[in-house]
Amino acid sequence: MQRITTVTEHLLFLQKESPMATGRFTHLLNELILAAKIISREVNKAGLVDILGFTGEINVQGEEVVKLDEFANRILIHRMERAGVLCAMASEENADLIEIPPAFPSGDYVLIFDPLDGSSNVDSNVSIGTIFSIYRRKSPPGRNVNLGDLLQKGAEQVAAGYFIYGSSTMMVYTTGHGVHGFTLDPSVGEFLLSHPAIKIPPAGKFYSVNESYWPYWDETTRKAVSYFKNPENKSPYNLRYIGSLVADFHRNLLAGGIFMYPADLRDPKKPSGKLRLMCEAAPLAMVVEQAGGMATDGKRRILDIDPQELHQRVPLFIGSKKDVEKVMEIYKAAK
Ligand code: AHG
Ligand code: MN
Ligand code: MN
Repeated sequence: MQRITTVTEHLLFLQKESPMATGRFTHLLNELILAAKIISREVNKAGLVDILGFTGEINVQGEEVVKLDEFANRILIHRMERAGVLCAMASEENADLIEIPPAFPSGDYVLIFDPLDGSSNVDSNVSIGTIFSIYRRKSPPGRNVNLGDLLQKGAEQVAAGYFIYGSSTMMVYTTGHGVHGFTLDPSVGEFLLSHPAIKIPPAGKFYSVNESYWPYWDETTRKAVSYFKNPENKSPYNLRYIGSLVADFHRNLLAGGIFMYPADLRDPKKPSGKLRLMCEAAPLAMVVEQAGGMATDGKRRILDIDPQELHQRVPLFIGSKKDVEKVMEIYKAAK
């Protein structure tokens, strides 16, 4: 019989392997996993139960009906604020940092998350996900935390990963010792190791970008995207773009490829594109680098960017090393 490894066993193994993975860290991840299982359950019945209504409606059970991303956000905050391992949180859905209520013990870690990524795809039953990023606090132990505890470079992350709610629910994460994928077996409610030590192919088969923004890109960006459409390419690429970052990223991580969300000139208020550094780009950049890939904003390594604000946006080119290097070469030549 094939050896079955649960994520709990994997975490305990890691705990022995790496001093930073303390019991409290394992508890943090286990609480996160419980929240994801609850979100997965709701995502899988989203089409059935009218939880896609808008915030504030009251459903037949007299419960307040919330949109799935708000539901996911509430579940994560509810579970994680009680876990006793965090000193603060930040969510894509909350403008400011989320403090741990005095009723619950504070801890040494910081959690930043995108509770539901790709939420515009829920209604069409397309894969969506949850992205998480974990740092150690920088301020001394105790109740007062500050923004400095959250605004850390991606290279300071102690762990990062995502859950993807697709044909199956998977968890992919890294603590700096490689990237490992687990698939939820709903019959036992356990995440089982299905993709040990994931490595992204050095060059990809896919390029993922929303080409409808072509009119809003500068010449260099157009040149970079055109490279992947160029028939003279020895290995022409296929365009695959789902519109859920987690789903596009996960496919490219396993099959090889590059995901691009460049800066565009549509909205002068958003000169750096749409994706957020802290809860989308930085965690996926840690995963992709641990899998042998690369992540850049076109010029800088994502993990080296010093964040200035919680919801800072950043252009993102992420995936197979050779493909991302090509983009950087094109931007460098344009200087
Ligand atoms: P979120 O649902 O968390 O706001 O993220 C949506 C993001 C990302 O998942 C996806 O890659 C991107 O939006 C798609 O944007 P466009 O529709 O502009 O292509
Ligand atoms: Mn997102
Ligand atoms: Mn989101």
